[in-house]
Amino acid sequence: MDRLWNVAVVGATGAVGNEMLRILEERDFPLQKLHLLASERSEGDFLEFRGKEIPVEKLSADSFVGIDVAFFSAGGECSRDFCPIAVAAGAVCIDNSGAWGTDPDVPLVVPEVNPDEIAGFARKRIIANPNCLSTQMVVALKPLHDYARIRRIVVSTYQSVSGAGQKGIDELRVQTGELLNGRPGDCKVFPHQIAFNCLPHIDAFLESGETLEERKLAEETRKVLGDPDVGVTATAVRVPVFYGAGESINIETERKITIDKARELLTGAPGVELVDRPAAEDYPMPLDAAGQDLVCVGRIREDMTIENGLNLWTCADNIRKGSATNAVQIAEILVGKYL
Ligand SMILES: NC(=O)c1ccc[n+]([C@@H]2O[C@H](COP(=O)([O-])OP(=O)(O)OC[C@H]3O[C@@H](n4cnc5c(N)ncnc54)[C@H](OP(=O)(O)O)[C@@H]3O)[C@@H](O)[C@H]2O)c1
Repeated sequence: MDRLWNVAVVGATGAVGNEMLRILEERDFPLQKLHLLASERSEGDFLEFRGKEIPVEKLSADSFVGIDVAFFSAGGECSRDFCPIAVAAGAVCIDNSGAWGTDPDVPLVVPEVNPDEIAGFARKRIIANPNCLSTQMVVALKPLHDYARIRRIVVSTYQSVSGAGQKGIDELRVQTGELLNGRPGDCKVFPHQIAFNCLPHIDAFLESGETLEERKLAEETRKVLGDPDVGVTATAVRVPVFYGAGESINIETERKITIDKARELLTGAPGVELVDRPAAEDYPMPLDAAGQDLVCVGRIREDMTIENGLNLWTCADNIRKGSATNAVQIAEILVGKYL
């Protein structure tokens, strides 16, 4: 019989952790025992998995005894503190928090793009899941990069409130209701009103004027594509949408890619769905991309202002392919090939 694995989900009660349970179930991960971990706020709660109620335990230094694979989705501080503890107990960590993504000894993996990097888990026994927007972008750009070598990317993101976790979803829902009833809505999660608004501000501002989210998107894109020479400049925007993310992407390539060639390269590319029939008003939208695992690509058109330029628009589910699904895909390759 194939081996079954003991798995821990840290942050199981959160937006990503909760989805992780659904994905492990949907993909029938070869799982023996599942440990659900969160903060003391959730201790004693139960979450459903494969028809059974599983208790949520408080994360502690003893949580990882006997665990083979630990998924972390509980913020950067938690990952920085507890991944080494989980590793010392014998687990391999797959981290969603961004805490380890730029560590040169930690592979940053999108299975459709650089699955062989998973072998590098042996260095620190940690594998990083990229930021959801990096994953979405590299899945769409990998076939174009392989064909025509991308020199420069200009990207603007349209990120839903679920990217800020369950509390972000709650803030948009409550604020919208309050405002529609003529009452001012509270702003606790986002720095300004998010309902009926857009905020060009995700994560902290750096001295350069860019935000950490924008910096991460650039660095992670280069690392996953395995090409330090690709220029990436990003603007990350929070929009009043619950689930899914959009990216307006402009690329400059070494070799020309016509619209037809781009469509041909993207048709059937791993993890990609081409949704590009403008005459039928058919293009990717967050509403359609949410709840599934493909990166939808459309609005492909040439950028006439440069010699080899292309514009495209992508949408994906930030919590599924952007986070939980990608992490489970990594785990499938890890246990199938390397453990
Ligand atoms: N949402 C996205 O689209 C997305 C995409 C990619 C990556 N991520 C990353 O995934 C992580 C989780 O995001 P999320 O959106 O799921 O957030 P969330 O909905 O706020 O959930 C946070 C989870 O972390 C747990 N937690 C918080 N502090 C903890 C602590 N000190 N010890 C143990 N557990 C703790 C929470 O437990 P309680 O319920 O007990 O408080 C909850 O289960 C973050 O690092 C985020 O950057 C999110």
